[in-house]
Amino acid sequence: MREVILAEHAGFCFGVKRAVTKAFELSGSDKKVFTFGELIHNSDVVKNLESKNINAISEEDFGEVTKQDTVLIRSHGVTPDRLEDIRGISGEVIDLTCPYVTNIQRKVSEFHGKGYRIVILGDKDHPEVVGINGWCDNTALISKSGEINFKVPGRICAVSQTTEKQANWEKLIVGLSKEAKELFAFNTICAATQERQSSTERLAKEMEAMVVIGGKNSSNTNKLYEICKAWCENTWFVENAKELKEHIEELREFKRIGVTAGASTPDWIIKEAMELL
Ligand code: F3S
Repeated sequence: MREVILAEHAGFCFGVKRAVTKAFELSGSDKKVFTFGELIHNSDVVKNLESKNINAISEEDFGEVTKQDTVLIRSHGVTPDRLEDIRGISGEVIDLTCPYVTNIQRKVSEFHGKGYRIVILGDKDHPEVVGINGWCDNTALISKSGEINFKVPGRICAVSQTTEKQANWEKLIVGLSKEAKELFAFNTICAATQERQSSTERLAKEMEAMVVIGGKNSSNTNKLYEICKAWCENTWFVENAKELKEHIEELREFKRIGVTAGASTPDWIIKEAMELL
């Protein structure tokens, strides 16, 4: 008998669900609908949207957008400049920035205005971090994994990418507080991220094998993979049930298998993978 257990918190978070639901609602619209960047880091969902004529665009494609078209801003958010550009070229902008990300952007803008130097914990190339940095005129110091490889300013406002690991945040704040004179630290790691990470860790500690489901370019899914790998050597990272099939023979030898999924993994993909296991 094989036991397959799904982590208590897995799959779509509130912000992603909101964005995906809205996009699918618009799929019947007679207007052309674009998303600025792929709506979420999940290729199955992106392909599904393409089949409904909702296509991702980048800055290079702005020439394709007309005043009759709608552009969706995804949950990662954008810089204020980019938002203005998109408003200028399209007929309608639907801003689906996750409210938790909007909250970070507002804090960053407020404290930048008060003369604090912004420090962001996160991946400098991730769209969420690029977007947040735009709200302080791209002046933020960015720390990867809590490392401090910059001169610590006297007055700091620190925030985090929503999908960061708590341990990295603690490392950063301890490091900054040794030298900063004034430090505002807003732990903006999203509760959905924390819940997914802690329930994944609990499960990985108990299971013989773990399967992580989600986009390879999804930051939060990659973090779940790192957590699983730290506690359970036999961990597989797959995008969907089709990819899982390739590993099913190797998984056969395990009696207790845990499953977790990133915040951008839809329920139907999780269901298919669970059924296969
Ligand atoms: Fe929003 Fe948190 Fe998801 S910030 S997009 S609810 S991981």
